[in-house]
Amino acid sequence: MKKILTISLALALALAVAGCAYKKADSETGTDATDYYSRLEHCAEQIRRKTDFVPDIALVLGSGLGNFADNLDITAEIPYSEIDGFPVSTVAGHDGKLIFCTLGGKKLAIMKGRVHYYEGYSVHEVVLPLRVLHLLGAKTAILTNAVGAINADFNVGDFVLTTDHISSFVPSPLIGENIDKLGERFVDMSKVYDEEMISIAESVAARNSIPVHRGVLVQTSGPQYETPTEIQMYRNAGADTVGMSTVVEAIAAKHMGMRVCDICCITNMAAGLQEKLSHDEVQSSSDNSSKSFATLVNGLISEL
Ligand code: HPA
Repeated sequence: MKKILTISLALALALAVAGCAYKKADSETGTDATDYYSRLEHCAEQIRRKTDFVPDIALVLGSGLGNFADNLDITAEIPYSEIDGFPVSTVAGHDGKLIFCTLGGKKLAIMKGRVHYYEGYSVHEVVLPLRVLHLLGAKTAILTNAVGAINADFNVGDFVLTTDHISSFVPSPLIGENIDKLGERFVDMSKVYDEEMISIAESVAARNSIPVHRGVLVQTSGPQYETPTEIQMYRNAGADTVGMSTVVEAIAAKHMGMRVCDICCITNMAAGLQEKLSHDEVQSSSDNSSKSFATLVNGLISEL
């Protein structure tokens, strides 16, 4: 009898532990909408306790583009590690903090650094910070990212304004029970990227002799770079640029009804179009582009 009791107790304990683990996995993958939304609110509340700043625009700074935030008139700064529930990046060149500042008369929440799917975060975790910024008030998302150029007419150091994307190689951040408070279940992706913002960025680029193109972005999972044959496939599918971020954020932003713009910085030609690829090159190329990038983003924000 004692033995049976011990076995039943052990079984009950094992089931309870498994249940907790399942619950955790659920909230991480976003399939439990209530848990996930509470987590967004929890993050937003912690930020509100530190600053009452209400951002108009969420600006996400990609690989190596973080020094844009160096010379700003900052109202508040919060390291991601100080926000319970916020994912923290593990990649060099992506030190994570939120910066609140006013630029060109607009109130900005800058994400200096983002987390990536290839770090092992679910896509729901990846888009969590942007969703929190929307909860804080941001109606516009300006995304930026380093990319490889698939289009052979583009050059390293040029910028590409994303007009459309291919998301088919990474999971959707909208999978799981829909969070109705954020947006609708089936979202139209016919026009993700705001045409007016693209035109403004183009005119800022023209005035400042910054080489800029329009193009279609494909997001891969990473972290490995692509093979030449994969790049050939993406080219055939209609992509001009390839990167390991941004598209999932654009989808989440569109889901929330945000106005979206994406500025890509070409740090390398894609696999097959140059001899070899390295993360060091990606970082040094984006460092070299940081001045033009700042001009482009400043000009865009001021004219919005
Ligand atoms: N491929 C994927 N992601 C990238 C690249 C690339 O060539 N360059 C910068 N990010």
